[in-house]
Order: sequence, then structure tokens, then C-alpha cells
Amino acid sequence: MFPNFPLFPKQASTLAGPVDALYFFLVAITAFFSILIAVGIVFFAVKFRRRHPDEIGHPIHGSLILELTWTLIPLAIAMMIFVWGAGLYFKLITPPADATEVYVVGKRWMWKAQHLGGQREINELHVPVGQAVKLIIGSEDVIHSFYIPEFRVKMDAVPGRSTMLWFQATEAGEYHLFCAEYCGMSHSRMIGKIVVMTPPDFQTWLSGGKPSGSMAEEGEKLFTSLGCASCHLPDGTGRAPKMMGVFGSTVKLQDGSTVTADENYIRESIMTPMAKIVAGYAPLMPTFQGQVSEEQLAQIIAYIKSLNSKASATSGTN
Ligand code: CUA
Repeated sequence: MFPNFPLFPKQASTLAGPVDALYFFLVAITAFFSILIAVGIVFFAVKFRRRHPDEIGHPIHGSLILELTWTLIPLAIAMMIFVWGAGLYFKLITPPADATEVYVVGKRWMWKAQHLGGQREINELHVPVGQAVKLIIGSEDVIHSFYIPEFRVKMDAVPGRSTMLWFQATEAGEYHLFCAEYCGMSHSRMIGKIVVMTPPDFQTWLSGGKPSGSMAEEGEKLFTSLGCASCHLPDGTGRAPKMMGVFGSTVKLQDGSTVTADENYIRESIMTPMAKIVAGYAPLMPTFQGQVSEEQLAQIIAYIKSLNSKASATSGTN
């Protein structure tokens, strides 16, 4: 749609075109009015210059038409930018339901990624072309920002929180990955590459990773070794709620409010268990702050998520 201007990175994701279109529109609007105003200043300065030392200008008593024009036209333009920008924003924060999940952790000064199958990589992220990929991003220390210029996507990695970024690459190849938030001495070296592969190549790459277990399996091991399993009994008779079917559900809390059990809720329940007590349960759970790393937390979340597909598989066979 737009010329491949060498000033701009290549457009290599489905979101790149729409993001650039809005950006170029903003540049065009800004350029149009900058030129209009600059030319107007020069034109009027020449046209209405003072020709005699005793010349006095006409008194002006206002103009309703003029006032309305310069109010309504900018209002219409601003509203158009608002609607366009909001639409694009919702696109950027809403991953397709079939997106493949990858967990990413920022740490001074590297990016670590874990695929659901258990494959791990550092400062590299392999993804298939033409498939939506959803990154669930965390940070082990300070704020970082995961930025892929060719995809026109960027998301902060915030300590104590899970953030999300999604993209669908449109062309196989290698693309820059940057940390776009100053995070200390080697911030400028916190770089890597996104390797976009054809689906068969990606499958080959995945099978070459030889992980010890999938993320969910590693998460299940942690769930047992950390003692979670002794209270969160699978049949719901334990001192703590069962985990099957929790992810994505609406949880009722002791104070009568409800919360959607997303990544951030699971994270908070593990790190700050007292923050939200599930209705009908006593506040017994200890915090796991400092005992669980960001990567392990991702494995536990992946495990809890995987219980949902197990639940539906079980109910399907019954
Ligand atoms: Cu991490 Cu800058």
C-alpha cells in the first residue's frame, strides 16, 4: 500500500501496514497544516504589510462562520484520528483465539523465551510464518520493552506483572529484536533476533530442541514439589480451590467481587496470595515470592492452563 521507503523498517507482520497507514496519515495531516500556516504567515505578512507610517488597520468584530469553521474541521479530524487509533489499538491488544503462546522473560540483559513444548532460547525467538503468535511477557528485575520494529509491535516487560503482545509474521526471515526501555548499563546490548520460518521448518526446529518436558509438565512438577498439590486437590475437597477449569473463569472472591482468572490473577495468587481470597476459603496460602523464578512462574501458569484442555478432554469422553 505504501512505498517501501528506506527510512522505514520493512513491513513484516499483518499489523505493520495498518500501523504505518495511521502514522503516515498523522504525518500528512501535520505536514498539510504546517505548510498551510507557514505559507499563510508569509502571504499575509506581505499582503497586509504597513505601507504608510500613519496607516491604521480595519477594526474586526469577529466572524461566526470563521469560528465555526476552525472549530468543526479540527474536531472532525481529531475524532477521525481517535476512532482510527482506537480501532487499531483494539486490534493490537486482541490476539486471535488460535494464537500460539510463547512465554518471554526480560532480564538484565537478555530475552529468554520458552515455548509450550518446553523448548527454550535466549535472545532469539523462532516463530512460524502466517501463524498468530501471542507472547506472555514478564520481567525478572526492571522494566524492559520487547520491540520488533519490522512487525510494528512493542510491549513493556514489567516486574510483577504479565503483559501481552501478539503478531503474525507475513514473511520468513530474520528480524531485529530490541529492548526499547533503558534498563541499565548493557541496555543497548539487550538485542536479539526473531527468526520467522515456514511451518515445516518451524516444526523441524521445534523437534530439534530436545526439551526435558513441556512447559505444562515442568509446571506440574513444580506444583508438586512446592507443595501446591497438597491443598489444591484435584477433586475440590482440599483446603484450597481446585485448579482444573480455573483459568479464564470468573472467580468469586470473599469480599463479594469477582475477577477473571487470567495470567495476572494466577501470578498474583502465587506471589501475593492474600490480595484476593477466593470466596469460601481461608487465607492460608503462603507467598512464593522469591521461591519461584519468572520462568518457573510461566511453567506453573502453563500447567494451570493445560488443566482446562484436560478438563474438556475428560468431559468429552464421558
Ligand atoms: Cu532491557 Cu533495556
